[in-house]
Amino acid sequence: MNTLLPCSSSSSSSTPLCIILLLFLLSISSITAHARDTITVGSPLAENETLVSAGGYFALGFFNPPNNPDRYVGIWFNNIPTQTVVWVANRLDPVAAAASPSFLSLSPDGILTLASPNSSTPLSTTATTLTNPVAQLLDTGNFVVREATDAGDAAAWQSFDYPTDTMIAGMKLGVDRRRGLNWTLTSWRSGSDPAPGEYYVAMETAGDPELFLYSVAGRARIWRSGQWDGVQFSGLPDNVPYGDYVYTFTNNAAEVSYSFNVLNRSLITRGVVNQTGVAQQSMWVQSRQVWNIIWHAPQDPCDEMSPCGPYGLCDPTVSPMCSCVQGFEPRSPQHWALLDGSDGCVRTTRLDCANRTDGFAKVSHVNLPDPTNCTVDATVGLDQCATRCLANCSCTAYAASNASSGARSGCVMWYSDLTGMRVFLAEGQDLYVRLAAADLASVTSHSGKSDHAPIAAIVSVSVLAFLLACAGWYIWRMRKLRKSGPGTSASTISFSHKHRKEESTQDSDIELPLFDLSAIAVATEEFSNTNKLGEGGFGPVYKGKLGNGQEIAVKTLAKTSAQGPNEFKNEVMLIAKLQHRNLVRLLGCCIQGEERMLIYEYMENKSLDRFLFDKAYSASLNWQTRYRIIEGIARGLVYLHQDSRFRVIHRDLKAGNILLDKEMNPKISDFGMARIFGGDETEVNTRKVVGTYGYMSPEYAMDGIFSVKSDVFSFGVLVLEIISGRRNRGAYVDSSHLNLLAHVWSLWTEGKSLELVDESMDYSFLANEVLKCLQIGLLCVQEHPEDRPLMSAVVLMLGSDGASLRTPKQPGFARRRVPIEMEFSSSKHDSRTLNDVTITMIGGR
Ligand SMILES: *[C@@H]1O[C@H](CO)[C@@H](O)[C@H](O)[C@H]1NC(C)=O
Ligand SMILES: *[C@@H]1O[C@H](CO)[C@@H](O)[C@H](O)[C@H]1NC(C)=O
Ligand SMILES: *[C@@H]1O[C@H](CO)[C@@H](O)[C@H](O)[C@H]1NC(C)=O
Ligand SMILES: *[C@@H]1O[C@H](CO)[C@@H](O)[C@H](O)[C@H]1NC(C)=O
Ligand SMILES: *[C@@H]1O[C@H](CO)[C@@H](O)[C@H](O)[C@H]1NC(C)=O
Ligand SMILES: *[C@@H]1O[C@H](CO)[C@@H](O)[C@H](O)[C@H]1NC(C)=O
Ligand SMILES: *[C@@H]1O[C@H](CO)[C@@H](O)[C@H](O)[C@H]1NC(C)=O
Ligand SMILES: *[C@@H]1O[C@H](CO)[C@@H](O)[C@H](O)[C@H]1NC(C)=O
Ligand SMILES: *[C@@H]1O[C@H](CO)[C@@H](O)[C@H](O)[C@H]1NC(C)=O
Repeated sequence: MNTLLPCSSSSSSSTPLCIILLLFLLSISSITAHARDTITVGSPLAENETLVSAGGYFALGFFNPPNNPDRYVGIWFNNIPTQTVVWVANRLDPVAAAASPSFLSLSPDGILTLASPNSSTPLSTTATTLTNPVAQLLDTGNFVVREATDAGDAAAWQSFDYPTDTMIAGMKLGVDRRRGLNWTLTSWRSGSDPAPGEYYVAMETAGDPELFLYSVAGRARIWRSGQWDGVQFSGLPDNVPYGDYVYTFTNNAAEVSYSFNVLNRSLITRGVVNQTGVAQQSMWVQSRQVWNIIWHAPQDPCDEMSPCGPYGLCDPTVSPMCSCVQGFEPRSPQHWALLDGSDGCVRTTRLDCANRTDGFAKVSHVNLPDPTNCTVDATVGLDQCATRCLANCSCTAYAASNASSGARSGCVMWYSDLTGMRVFLAEGQDLYVRLAAADLASVTSHSGKSDHAPIAAIVSVSVLAFLLACAGWYIWRMRKLRKSGPGTSASTISFSHKHRKEESTQDSDIELPLFDLSAIAVATEEFSNTNKLGEGGFGPVYKGKLGNGQEIAVKTLAKTSAQGPNEFKNEVMLIAKLQHRNLVRLLGCCIQGEERMLIYEYMENKSLDRFLFDKAYSASLNWQTRYRIIEGIARGLVYLHQDSRFRVIHRDLKAGNILLDKEMNPKISDFGMARIFGGDETEVNTRKVVGTYGYMSPEYAMDGIFSVKSDVFSFGVLVLEIISGRRNRGAYVDSSHLNLLAHVWSLWTEGKSLELVDESMDYSFLANEVLKCLQIGLLCVQEHPEDRPLMSAVVLMLGSDGASLRTPKQPGFARRRVPIEMEFSSSKHDSRTLNDVTITMIGGR
């Protein structure tokens, strides 16, 4: 054995070490030699042993949960270093630490048994008596007991039938109708106790089957997935993260089940219900050795069971989030005025089923209502569905049951109040809600209906000024909504891009609390210089403190600023509607006479440029934080570009516009120049080029063409700045000095990329992660917009191990100077560095 050689040749003093080493190696080799994947009747599994599936994907053995001396038998992923248990055999019957030695054995009739000196606990059952049983751990992570002579599927018992808190590829959630088995996930009681805890996910089969997350206490439903629409669950349109997943939904006499599979078994992934009641799917990122959560629920207030009550629609991106379906009005306007819509809506006009005058209003882009009182007929088309629903006076709505491949077929009909509806941006389904003829025809004129006067008396005098402002604004908005009528055409209400756009481009439609100037003056101590945070593109920015202690940033619009009232309103309306954890939140605004101000949440750590480019701070920005910042910015941009209700292009993305909160979470700020796009517009020509030089894409700076890809360019520059701690100075500074992009490009082509890394990180970074980000940065700053990835692709790349990234082409600006004239919008700004200045170029084309 050649492991002996180094020992025999070494000095006697190191012999004990050698022996230890040797014993260690021997024990390793004996474990690997004995690593088996089966338990047979004569050979139980000892506590110090593990079963490993044939391909090495899963392991089974005894384990201790963190901080728990008790022993459990479980299955975990075999080839990741963090022990991640996916199944526990004895959740309720742990083996006490003192009860060693314990064994997992297989009885001659095929029952798995946990045996310790004084006890013996059966862990499995079999319907049929086996004659020559064997228990085997399969590569899928399924532990099966079967007849030794039967290969394949004929398992007498399998762990997949008794899920614990984790769903892995190939496992089913649902109901086995034949055997009366429920495949459910139940959370652990705590991180150290695998016993069944407070939360579980189960398939509800009444009506149209879907998954529900329950809290055991009171069997309360916390969240629902929405019905399966042939492609996905209607409540989770974003849960199709990677092409490598295959989702399967089965509903037949034998079972109702949902499962997922992965096309490449090296993809390590799991779904978990955790002990705080969150259902989540995560993927193991090999390069970073972490579990990356790719999806979780509930995510927002609209994921609650029925936040807006019967016939209410929930939209988490607006405030208030509740509105009523066309033809309905709030049941109690008082509650609604205080932003509590949970008692829902009532019909404006009674149905008139007997005379057959009722009709349907189409509500687009929603999940389908609670399925408890509905029926499904997959054989019927949508037209026939309408006829049937109309003919049955208790039918309140209908929808297609199968939306796969765009073709809508099948018929779901509801027979009770519709609850649990939420609005999606572009995804979701069409729901047809039964309405009386009067409500279908109502295209209310804009002049009438001023009789819905605000009920000012609701708000007592003692209520805080802030609350008053909110309520007042809300009542004002309700009035507006009623005035403008519920729909844009006779019988449809649609929450599509177009509808929203029309709504938002009306000048007066600012959906925001209005603050009183005097309140702001008090909060900022009369706009004192000590409270001044800095000078933005608009004018000075002040820190303030509201009466309730909340810290705010007040952005004033200088009267002489180049940014006029329209830009101001543009920003106000946009930000009010955009809410994401990587965007700065707008709390309100103040318009009084000439004065215009925006009130934002205050960001403790100010802006990213201070941390990046100031040596006093940059050392405190370690690689993990930088990486999180990159990820956060990317997510914020995906939201702006794709997931928000408008397509928003930021146009002035730069380190100074990335603000950092207490926990160093990045938040994108300054949407003053963002433009609202309709659904189909992707590129716009403009004669007025605004932006910041070092971050501008070539096609934007030179031709005034901007698109989401110009933001991608700016993002790429930001990534490279975050890695290097250096500013991109743009091509005009001094042509003899390479700018950052050219510098990165030359390092990249010479294979010396790591030289770019900011020295203040002191080499404490993950090289492959840095290289991945650098490559992504370079992909984003490629000269031709069509070569640059979309931000959603960037987010996927960040989550990947980076091995399969494309090779970037030469960046824009790396080799040419830009022949343009420019004009600085506010020459008042000091020009310490020209890059800091937001410039406006007129006639760039
Ligand atoms: C497990 O422990 C037992 C004694 O408790 C010992 O005899 C056996 O060799 C050990 N097996 C392995 C694989 O270490
Ligand atoms: C097992 O039984 C013996 C004697 O009956 C007793 O002394 C011992 O404490 C028991 N062990 C456990 C773990 O219960
Ligand atoms: C499965 O769930 C249904 C409905 O919740 C329940 O009635 C039934 O008893 C459950 N069956 C088992 C085996 O837990
Ligand atoms: C599966 O994924 C691994 C790692 O990502 C990769 O190396 C392998 O080529 C993939 N296999 C297939 C068949 O795609
Ligand atoms: C459960 O998951 C959520 C979301 O990922 C997380 O915030 C929470 O901390 C988790 N709870 C526990 C106990 O791990
Ligand atoms: C519906 O029928 C009732 C009588 O059954 C009648 O009084 C009423 O006017 C009809 N309504 C409409 C809208 O035709
Ligand atoms: C379903 O219908 C029953 C009987 O009409 C009713 O009690 C129940 O509240 C309805 N469920 C839902 C979710 O609407
Ligand atoms: C309407 O539908 C309900 C639920 O399917 C059914 O019970 C009732 O008999 C139907 N009524 C008519 C008139 O068809
Ligand atoms: C849904 O429609 C698609 C395409 O029309 C069809 O292939 C599929 O079988 C349908 N699914 C069900 C459950 O009817």
